[in-house]
Amino acid sequence: MQFLKPILAIVVAYLLIKLGVPFLGSLMHPGTWPVVPSAVMKMYMAFIILGTLLSYTYSEEGYNALIGPIVDVYSNPAKAAIKFGLVFVIGAFGAFVAYQYVKPTFDPPVELRSVHPAPPSSAELWGKSFQIQSLKNPLRDDKANFAKNVEEGGAIFFKNCFYCHGDKLDGKGHFAAGFNPLPANFTDVGTIAQLTESFVFWRVGTGGPGLPGEGTPWISAMPVWHTLLSEEELWKVIMFIYDYTGYAPRVTTEVK
Ligand code: HEC
Repeated sequence: MQFLKPILAIVVAYLLIKLGVPFLGSLMHPGTWPVVPSAVMKMYMAFIILGTLLSYTYSEEGYNALIGPIVDVYSNPAKAAIKFGLVFVIGAFGAFVAYQYVKPTFDPPVELRSVHPAPPSSAELWGKSFQIQSLKNPLRDDKANFAKNVEEGGAIFFKNCFYCHGDKLDGKGHFAAGFNPLPANFTDVGTIAQLTESFVFWRVGTGGPGLPGEGTPWISAMPVWHTLLSEEELWKVIMFIYDYTGYAPRVTTEVK
């Protein structure tokens, strides 16, 4: 059982670093549990394993105590079963490590995705052609019905959009975690606040599949809404997301 000692020493050292260091950290900063970075962990463990083996094999008898059982298992015919078991376990471990290296990962691709690609000059929705650049929200001129339109837009949002974009419009809907890219967070200044209504109209109308090449390689889960909502409903839901978040749509003015 002599050979179990170094293994025990290594395990204790591992636990000391893995749990002891964070514990000390938590005493200094209550409420936190700092982790030891895995690269540091690997370096420490390499030194600890090396050091333990060195110190246990320093003397002849220590070496024999450590190596003896291994030699015994491999040369003693009575322990053939254990030997083949070990060969299998070590082989399986090697296969597992190799598999971990080569298995496909689901990390985001390194290529950058353009979140707001330039829209096409015109888009085909409901079988009609819309000129995105000059497109205006026709409901904006109807000041008398503004509140009613926004309210109806809200109803459309909570029937269709909140599953992904969240009931606070913060992109944290029930389904959100399943998507990459994540559903847009409209309360963030980086989305509708810096977009014109016509851009949003094009984006909502044509959804993920409407994105040009630079909007990929990530596949957006945003549905193609012109197949599900009417033109008027689309404008209303857009008015609602601006009204709720308190942002004004970006406007383009002519430079004279
Ligand atoms: C199935 C989930 C899902 C639903 C439902 C959904 N969206 Fe999205 N939406 C997304 C995802 C994911 C993105 C981010 C990727 C992208 O830009 O296409 C997005 C992006 C957007 C953007 C682009 C924001 C920007 O900064 O470019 C707008 C606007 C938008 N959604 C509006 C809506 C509206 C309005 C509805 C309801 C009519 C809706 N979405 C329903 C998933 C969804």
